[in-house]
Amino acid sequence: MADLETSLLQALHAQEVIADSGDLAKSLGVEHIVLVGTIRSLQASEMITAEDIDHFRYVLTDEAQGYLTAGSPEAQVFNAVPAGEGITLAELKARVSGEAGDVGFKQAMQQRWLALDKSDVGEPRVVRKVDAIVDRTQQLLADVAGGRELPKAEAESLAKKRKLIKPEQWKTYKLTKGPKFALERKKPATDLTFEMMSKGTWRMQEFKDYNFNALGVPPPSGQLHPLLKVRSQFRKIFTQMGFEEMPTNQYVESSFWNFDALFQPQQHPARDAHDTFFLTKPASTPAGRGVDNDYLNRVKSVHEMGGYGSVGYGYSWKLAESEKNLLRTHTTAVSSRMLYRLANQPGGFKPAKYFSIDRVFRNEQVDRTHLAEFHQVEGLVCDKGLTLGDLIGVLNQFFSRLGLKKLRFKPAFNPYTEPSMEIFSYSEQLGKWMEVGNSGMFRPEMLRPMGLPEDVNVIAWGLSLERPTMILYGIDNIRDLFGHKVSLSMVRKNPLCRLGL
Ligand code: PHE
Repeated sequence: MADLETSLLQALHAQEVIADSGDLAKSLGVEHIVLVGTIRSLQASEMITAEDIDHFRYVLTDEAQGYLTAGSPEAQVFNAVPAGEGITLAELKARVSGEAGDVGFKQAMQQRWLALDKSDVGEPRVVRKVDAIVDRTQQLLADVAGGRELPKAEAESLAKKRKLIKPEQWKTYKLTKGPKFALERKKPATDLTFEMMSKGTWRMQEFKDYNFNALGVPPPSGQLHPLLKVRSQFRKIFTQMGFEEMPTNQYVESSFWNFDALFQPQQHPARDAHDTFFLTKPASTPAGRGVDNDYLNRVKSVHEMGGYGSVGYGYSWKLAESEKNLLRTHTTAVSSRMLYRLANQPGGFKPAKYFSIDRVFRNEQVDRTHLAEFHQVEGLVCDKGLTLGDLIGVLNQFFSRLGLKKLRFKPAFNPYTEPSMEIFSYSEQLGKWMEVGNSGMFRPEMLRPMGLPEDVNVIAWGLSLERPTMILYGIDNIRDLFGHKVSLSMVRKNPLCRLGL
């Protein structure tokens, strides 16, 4: 309020001292509280100084407002009692009802304005003891309303006993000129300009002090989403363990790599459109692309009749079904491609340790823990003579690097692994065992048709990236982590991630 500021400065300039800002507010026609804002701001720039003046007064309570005109309860009761024969209590109650009646009767009796006459046979009667009264309470209330001071004892009794008045405290200020007093506020410059330099006006210019406590403007920079931070930690763990990352840059897969190569029968419920997103354009990938005919025939035959110690599924395997394009439902599709490549690389088979972390898609009902698209972390070791013991050992190593040291395994089923194990970890935080992943040894029905030697085994495991990220970042609804509802400030502010180690 520049106007108010100017008026205040001018008044102070004219009078040298403003004894009470309350009076100034009145003369300027504003509420004192409005003027206080201006005083504070001028005080902060040392243009004025302000000294507190404490005020205290009593004001009427709501109840007392009514007695200002109607008279105090005791006077109302006295006036309701006719001179002479008086009135019964019941009649009196009817005339002055409610609290005023009760309090007024008590007060009038105490003051000896009224008495109870029990001499008659009938009901006792309330009679006047004095001819006339002076309504002292009403006078006191009028004094308070008029801003006059009351004798201490009476004020206290009205405030504490009868609660007809209440104290009110406020401050006004004595104002004097400050060291930087001026009729107009000079805005200190925040920048030294070319003009000030060339004209020399910088010499006269007042500059704003540096505020070394101010927070700086955050530098513009990109921020990593929590999933990416956790992903890079997983990458680090895998690379420290000597794993190599598989190329995952292919969301669209043929059913062949996602299912058939993994010995997942074509009638399997997961291959239904209820669970899997199939593509319409292009709807299929001709089998010849990337898969040689012999391998294709071995896959067909292992599904139909088995082999390598298996009896197969005994159904008629359809090439067209395996050619259907889909959004990969697991990163094991990537693993199957890589194992096929490994089996057929020039120079023959060499052991390998692979991992992948990327997106997968499932036709899921979306809720607080499920999305139709999420990330999987997958690791595999391919070598001669691997056993379930190796799998358990690797899982213990891997998860302990995540900080999950207590593991338990539960037999499970996957079409492509035997044996299969769900992995549980004990959460000290939640005090219970939680499922943290799935694992197993890839079946010979999957590996042998690819051309991997008979004595080569593959141990593998998978988990979601979202679950550990939500635990690490304390997010309980997956939609706050991924998708269109994610708050950008969450991405901007989330802390670094360091796992286990
Ligand atoms: N593909 C499995 C899944 O989607 C995970 C897994 C990977 C299981 C490797 C066993 C071996 O849950």
